[in-house]
Amino acid sequence: MPTRTPVEGQLYIGGKWRGQELDKIKVYNPATGELVGEVPKAGAKETAEAIEAAHQAFESWSSLTAHERSAYLEQYYQQIMVHKEELARLITLEMGKPQPEAQGEVVYAADFIKWFAEEGKRIYGRTIPSHLPHKRMQVWKQPVGVVAAITPWNFPAAMLTRKLGPALAAGCTMVIKPSGETPLTAVKLMELAEKSDIPAGVLNLVTGPSSVIAQEIMTNPKVRKVTFTGSTEVGKKLIEQSAGQVKKLSLELGGHAPIIVLDDADLDQAVDGVIASKFRNTGQTCVCANRIYVQAGIYDTFVERLAEKTKQLKVGNGFETGVQIGPLINREAYEKVEKHVQDAVAKGAQVVAGGFGFTREKAYFYQPTVLRDVHHGMLVMKEETFGPVAPVQKVDTEEEAVQLANDTPYGLAAYLFTQNVARGIKVAEKLDYGIVGWNDGVPSAVQAPFGGMKESGMGREGGYEGIEAFLETKYVAIGL
Ligand code: SIN
Repeated sequence: MPTRTPVEGQLYIGGKWRGQELDKIKVYNPATGELVGEVPKAGAKETAEAIEAAHQAFESWSSLTAHERSAYLEQYYQQIMVHKEELARLITLEMGKPQPEAQGEVVYAADFIKWFAEEGKRIYGRTIPSHLPHKRMQVWKQPVGVVAAITPWNFPAAMLTRKLGPALAAGCTMVIKPSGETPLTAVKLMELAEKSDIPAGVLNLVTGPSSVIAQEIMTNPKVRKVTFTGSTEVGKKLIEQSAGQVKKLSLELGGHAPIIVLDDADLDQAVDGVIASKFRNTGQTCVCANRIYVQAGIYDTFVERLAEKTKQLKVGNGFETGVQIGPLINREAYEKVEKHVQDAVAKGAQVVAGGFGFTREKAYFYQPTVLRDVHHGMLVMKEETFGPVAPVQKVDTEEEAVQLANDTPYGLAAYLFTQNVARGIKVAEKLDYGIVGWNDGVPSAVQAPFGGMKESGMGREGGYEGIEAFLETKYVAIGL
C-alpha cells in the first residue's frame, strides 16, 4: 500500500521549483476519498512566466541537433523506467486505475519518449525539381515554437508524454497544464526531466484553475501551438479562443465508440475484445466502446458470454490484488453512469450483469454492467458514458450496423469483429472514424496515429503524424 503522507507538488518554471506561497489545490484518492497531495494554484502571472521561460529556452533547444535532443530524451526514458513503480503508485493514488494497468501506463508513457527520441532524427524536408535553371527549391521542417499542452486525468502519464515526446524531439519547448484531478504524476515527470538534465525552461509545469491558465495560454502570442486532450465541449472553446492569434491546435476530444460484431466473428475473440475495449481503465478512455451492435444470429449467445465474463471482473481499490475495475474519478462521473443505466432500463433495456453502483469510504464504484435490448432512443447509445457500461443492440445486417455506428457526431475509434476479410475491409472503409480496431479491442500504440474525425478532434498523436503536428513547413526558393 502507498504512503499516506500527502505529496507536496510545486510548479516547475525555468528550471526552478516554485509556488510554495500560493493557495493549494487538494488532490484526493478516488478509491478512498483520502487526501493524497496538493499542488499550487497558479494564475495568469505564473503561466505567463512559464511561457516566457519556454520562449527563452526555445532558441538554444531548437538549435541542438536532432541527435543531441534524442540523447536527452533517451536519458528521460531511462529515468521513467527506473521510477516505474513510483509513478504507477502515484497514478493509482490520484486516478484510481488498478496497479497492473498503472504499470502498463508508465511503460506506454515511457515508450512515447523513446519512440519520438528516434523519430526526431527522421524529420526530413525535400528538394523540389526546379522549373528554372537558376533557381533551387527546398522544403524545410522547423519546430513550431512554444507549445502549451493541456492534459487529462484518465492517463496522467501517457497523455502527457504523447505530447511531450514529439514536441521536444521536434525542437519545441513547452508549458504543461495537467488536470487538477491528477497533477502529482505530472510533477513527478518534471522531477525526472530535471534528473535527465533536460535544460531549464525546455519543460515548464503550471497547476491551477483550467480557465485562468487556458486564458493566458490562448491570449499569449508567444504560444504558437496548443495541444489538448479532453472533452469536445472544451475543445470547441479552444477553437474559438485560438482564432484571435490563429494558434495551431491539436485536439483529441470525446468519443462514442461503436463495436460491430458480425455473425462470422470468432466469438471468444469478440467477447475478449469487447471486455478489453469497454472495461479498460473502468471505461474511462476516449476510445472505450460505448455501444455494441451484434448480428441477430449470434446475439443471444454473445450477450450470455459477455455477461458471464463481465460478472467475473473484480471491482475495488486499485492497490488490492486482483482488482480489475477501479473507482470512477468522482461523484459526477458516477452520477452520469447511473443516469445512463436508469434511463436505459426505464426505456426497456434488460440488465444482464451489474446494473448498480456503490460508494465506499467517500469513493464511487460502479459494477461492470451489460445491458441488452437497447436502442438509439436511450442516452447510453447517444452520449459518451465514460464508465463501465456495455449496452448491446441487436442488428440484422452489416449495413444496419454501419449506419447505426456512424449515427453520431463523434468519430474517434470504432471496432469490428469478423473473420471474413472482404467484409472486414468493406466495413472498415465505411466507418467514419480515425481509428478502427478489426478483431482488436486495444489498437492504441506509440507508433500508430491516434485521433478522431468529426467532433472527436483534429490532428493526430503518435506515429509519424505525431511529430508532424509540432513542425512548420517552410518553402525556401533559392536564386543562384
Ligand atoms: C485516451 O483515452 O485518450 C487514450 C487512450 C489510449 O491511448 O488508448
